[in-house]
Formats: sequence, structure tokens, C-alpha cells
Amino acid sequence: MGLYDVWLDFQEKCLTSQKFHDFAIKFPLTRPIVRKRQSELFDIVSGFVYSQILYSCVELGIITNPKLKNPGASLQEVSDLAGLRLDETRRLMDGAVSLRLFEKRHDKYRLGDLGAALSINKGVLAMIGHHGEFYKDLVEPVDLLKSGRRDTNLSRYWNYARSEAPAAVDAKKVTAYSELMSESQLMVADEVLASFNFSPYKTLLDVGGGQGTFLTCVANAYPDLQLKLFDLPEVAKRAEQNFADNSLSTRAKCYGGSFFDDALPQGADLISLVRILHDHDDEPVMKILKAVHQALEPGGALIVCEPMSTGDSAHRISDAYFNFYLYAMGSGRPRSPEVLQNMLKQAGFSSIHTKNTRAPLITSILLAQK
Ligand SMILES: C[S@@+](CC[C@H](N)C(=O)[O-])C[C@H]1O[C@@H](n2cnc3c(N)ncnc32)[C@H](O)[C@@H]1O
Repeated sequence: MGLYDVWLDFQEKCLTSQKFHDFAIKFPLTRPIVRKRQSELFDIVSGFVYSQILYSCVELGIITNPKLKNPGASLQEVSDLAGLRLDETRRLMDGAVSLRLFEKRHDKYRLGDLGAALSINKGVLAMIGHHGEFYKDLVEPVDLLKSGRRDTNLSRYWNYARSEAPAAVDAKKVTAYSELMSESQLMVADEVLASFNFSPYKTLLDVGGGQGTFLTCVANAYPDLQLKLFDLPEVAKRAEQNFADNSLSTRAKCYGGSFFDDALPQGADLISLVRILHDHDDEPVMKILKAVHQALEPGGALIVCEPMSTGDSAHRISDAYFNFYLYAMGSGRPRSPEVLQNMLKQAGFSSIHTKNTRAPLITSILLAQK
């Protein structure tokens, strides 16, 4: 038993004693700590309400409406913009002010610091927008946990997650998630480009590359790099169109198939898996890693980019948010770099190490050599 265990025992003894609480709130030196803890606990209690306020502000277009910028809008103006009655508008906006989405100044509502940052982040806005489906799946969380993996709104949205034949998923079914991934990809690509040097490589293959947004960002930063993208056939078609629209068709080739059933294209000395592995359970992940290892040129490298359970500020988003999101989606789990490193080793990779990113909340990076 280490010192930390002794501390945990002591802490538990105190915090499960009503006498201790009575003392701690009375005693001036412990009172601020008690208040802070109360507020932290209440934040967890109210989290669902906070997210519904956020969701409403996004759905009603209030966050992005330029009229909410300096000098702001009166209650009546917000009510007209949102199409809500005055009382409901006041409740929504006062709630949003308390969450720093808005500020109330001189009887007008204007963007708060968090709202201002959010208002220009199309990726996060799109993620919030599709959370309506996720919230419906979580309405009965205990029921969801007890019933095991099942058909949910999110599993229908991410229809490859539970599909027996992912390569047969039709064009209509890939549109919504491909667009969402593309919107939210820009911030991921920014982080990867800020932390990883692609210049030693000749050809990058992005496996599960969606409609090509990541590769387009890398292509712009590294004009000599050749690009390949592999994704489900209908998604690969979208990427092909996207590369044509961005005059990249000569540098970027698209391949359609399933990484579970089809061989990946050969010839890349760098392969990327961006937000892929956490979508899948352990057995399918091993299949993907082995397929990547096989496709990679000898001496080539694999870069894995996704939010990981790193035990710091990204811990909550990974262990609480993604854990439940992926469970509701019907496949996958967030993993720590150590767990991924072990899986990479088993798949035949060596010299595996993490690369620091500026925002682990958006993505962490693992690099591995063949
Ligand atoms: C979470 S999205 C990530 C997309 C992109 N890498 C990004 O970060 O924006 C997962 C991608 O994997 C693709 N995918 C899912 N199952 C697949 C399979 N069996 N074979 C090939 N691609 C697959 C999906 O079509 C989707 O584009």
C-alpha cells in the first residue's frame, strides 16, 4: 500500500462523515475548498442541462448570429431571432450567460468568451448539432448499459459501426457522417501539421481518409508529397470529387474497399490512421493494424492520430465522453497510448513513441516504424 492509498483512505473516512462536513463548512480555512467541491459536484449533476442549453443555442442559430456580436441584442431581439417567447428566451439566455456562452451588458446579450470561440469553430458546431441523436440514445442510460450493444440512433448514423458488409454501405448513408468528419477534420489536421514533419516521406496513404479533408490540408502544406486515400467505396468517391475540386487529382489517388476484407494499396512510406482505431473493438483494430503493416513499405512509418486517454486534460473527454459516445455508436473504445503501443507491437511495429500535440483534447499522436 503506497502513500497515495493511505491518503485515499483518510480522505474517504473524512468525506463520508457528516461531522467532518459540518466542521469543514464552518472552519474558515476549509470553507473555500468545500465550496469549490460543492460547485464541482453540482456541475456534474447539471451537466446534461448545460449541454441542452448549449445545444439549443446552436440549433436556434443564436451562437452564430452576427447580431449577437458587439453591441449585442436586446431580449426582444433575441426572442425574435430565436422564435421563442420572451420568458423562454430569458431562461435560455440567462442560462447561456452563466455558461459563458454569452455576456449580459447594458441589458443586451452579446457573445461571451466561450461562445465567441465556439461561434467560429464550424467543426465543434457540427459536432454539437449531431448530438441530438446521441442525447436520445442516452435518455435511459442504465437501460443502454444493461441491454448491451444494440441498434441506436448513433449506430444508424455511423452505419459502418455495426455493418456486416461495410463496403456495401450506400451513398446516401455515408453523406451525413462524411460531411461531419470533414467539418471537424480541419482542427485535427491543424494539430497534426503543427506537431509532425511530413517532409521525410514521399507517399502518404490515409486509411479511412473520409472525403479527403486531412489529405487536402497536408497536400497544401507539403506540395511534393504524393497522396493515396482508402475508404469505403462511396466515401472514396466523395474524396475523388473533393480532390478534383481542389486540383489535386494528379497527386491524390483514391481507393474504395473495406480494410477488413480488401488489401490496402501498396507503395506508401507513411500511412495515417486519423480517428479510425477508437471506432473499433480490439479484434478489428488488430486486423486494421496488420493490414497497414502489410501495406507499408519496408522502413516506412505509421502515424495514429486520435484523442487518447492520456490522464491529463484530455482524460475526461476520452474516458467519459468518447467512452459513452462510442458505446452508443455500437463499436470501439478510447484507448491510452500504452494500450495502443502494445497493439502496435503485436501487429509487428517497432520504435513506437508518442509525439506531443498542442491540444491533446483534439488529438494525440503515436508514431510507429515498420
Ligand atoms: C470517424 S471517420 C474518420 C474519417 C477521417 N479519417 C477523419 O478523421 O475525418 C471513420 C472513417 O473510416 C471509414 N471506414 C469505416 N469502416 C471502414 C472500413 N471497413 N473500411 C474502410 N474505411 C472504413 C469511414 O467511412 C470513415 O470515413
